[in-house]
Amino acid sequence: MRVAIIGQGYVGLTIAVDSAGAGHTVVGFDVNAELVKKLNSGHSHIEGITNSHLGSLIESGNYLASSNPSTLEGCEVIVIAVPTPLDDQRNPDLSFVHAAADLIAENVQSPTLVVNESTSYPGTLRREIASRISNIEHLYASSPERVDPGNTQWGTKNTPRLIGGLTPPAVAKAREFYGSFCDTIIEVSSPEIAEAAKIFENTFRQVNIALVNEFAQIADALGISGREVISAAATKPYGFMEFNPGPGVGGHCIPVDPSYLAHVANQVGVPATFIKRANEVNLAMPAYVVQRVIAGNGGSIASKSVVVVGVSYKANVADTRETPAAAVIDLLRENGAIVSWHDDLVGNWRGETTAPLKGDVAVLVTRHNGLDLAALQACGYVFDCTGTIAGVDGI
Ligand SMILES: NC(=O)c1ccc[n+]([C@@H]2O[C@H](COP(=O)([O-])OP(=O)(O)OC[C@H]3O[C@@H](n4cnc5c(N)ncnc54)[C@H](O)[C@@H]3O)[C@@H](O)[C@H]2O)c1
Repeated sequence: MRVAIIGQGYVGLTIAVDSAGAGHTVVGFDVNAELVKKLNSGHSHIEGITNSHLGSLIESGNYLASSNPSTLEGCEVIVIAVPTPLDDQRNPDLSFVHAAADLIAENVQSPTLVVNESTSYPGTLRREIASRISNIEHLYASSPERVDPGNTQWGTKNTPRLIGGLTPPAVAKAREFYGSFCDTIIEVSSPEIAEAAKIFENTFRQVNIALVNEFAQIADALGISGREVISAAATKPYGFMEFNPGPGVGGHCIPVDPSYLAHVANQVGVPATFIKRANEVNLAMPAYVVQRVIAGNGGSIASKSVVVVGVSYKANVADTRETPAAAVIDLLRENGAIVSWHDDLVGNWRGETTAPLKGDVAVLVTRHNGLDLAALQACGYVFDCTGTIAGVDGI
């Protein structure tokens, strides 16, 4: 099939490469001309996609990145994979989704299948996409992306894919497309079910992470190890699922998607109280970390050199969106510490560059592979947010 993927970020490039690998002819459309140039010269910006793999797909003619809207015309399938952030009031910002829908309305004259993979609340495909593209009778389906960046066990191929369509022909066409590179397709009765399933999955994670974050604080105050309790509880073979505490949540999904659900919940008059409380607990974790670091340093970190180690939101990825490391660094500075950060994967961030791993105090926020343990432990005091360094303070 001739396919266009609108948005060549984490999700869009992954789907583009996987579908191109299955033999489709794929245009990776993105408004970022710099990114398009980089991709066409064979440079991937995603950890899970190697330059050589991207290069071979370009060479075989199966993949081409473009900023030219005319490339969308004549595609059998057009997938939308654009950002769905929150605005200043933490309400859904669908401006990127609307722009993608308008792009299709203005540039596509032949009937096609339009699939939305961007995460949003139930009703988005029907009300925010299909209703904006009313000039042509296209097929419409929702197939929320479940990619977990950096996860080597679960990828596009073996993660079951949900499909909900506005009509049976839309579901059939989406099944034909996704079935060519995904092992398991699960049809649901409407796009709203697929959309809601995705945000409920992420809300489940957000709420459970908040629960263990709160529990870790209770356990510490009781003088027992929260992590040992969680490991012990996880020996129960049924009815328990292990989540681990940390310095907060980050990335494009867990801190953001639940607020999309809360938004529609409020509209229908059912307050999403768990989501609100989970946000509060997770957003307060950096303050808890800094308070523990101060306590561990005799009540003050003023004028101490502190190195924050690992500033991306998760191990072995360079993504710093919504990373709790930002608040940890800001709060350490507010308390008078001289703060640098060390993360060779991230390199440059917030106008600063990665610094050597040394200081009076080290706060390990995210542990990438290849961490220089000797350098970490040479710091006078270590606080570990990852639960992987024995014998030091941490959560
Ligand atoms: N990153 C993840 O782990 C993940 C996982 C599952 C679902 N999602 C969801 O997938 C969607 C995309 O997320 P992402 O992480 O890939 O975002 P991203 O920021 O990595 O990439 C989005 C890309 O879309 C481009 N773009 C923006 N507006 C555009 C437009 N009008 N036309 C063409 N291109 C446009 C941007 O230039 C950018 O390259 C979001 O809804 C997100 O919640 C993300």
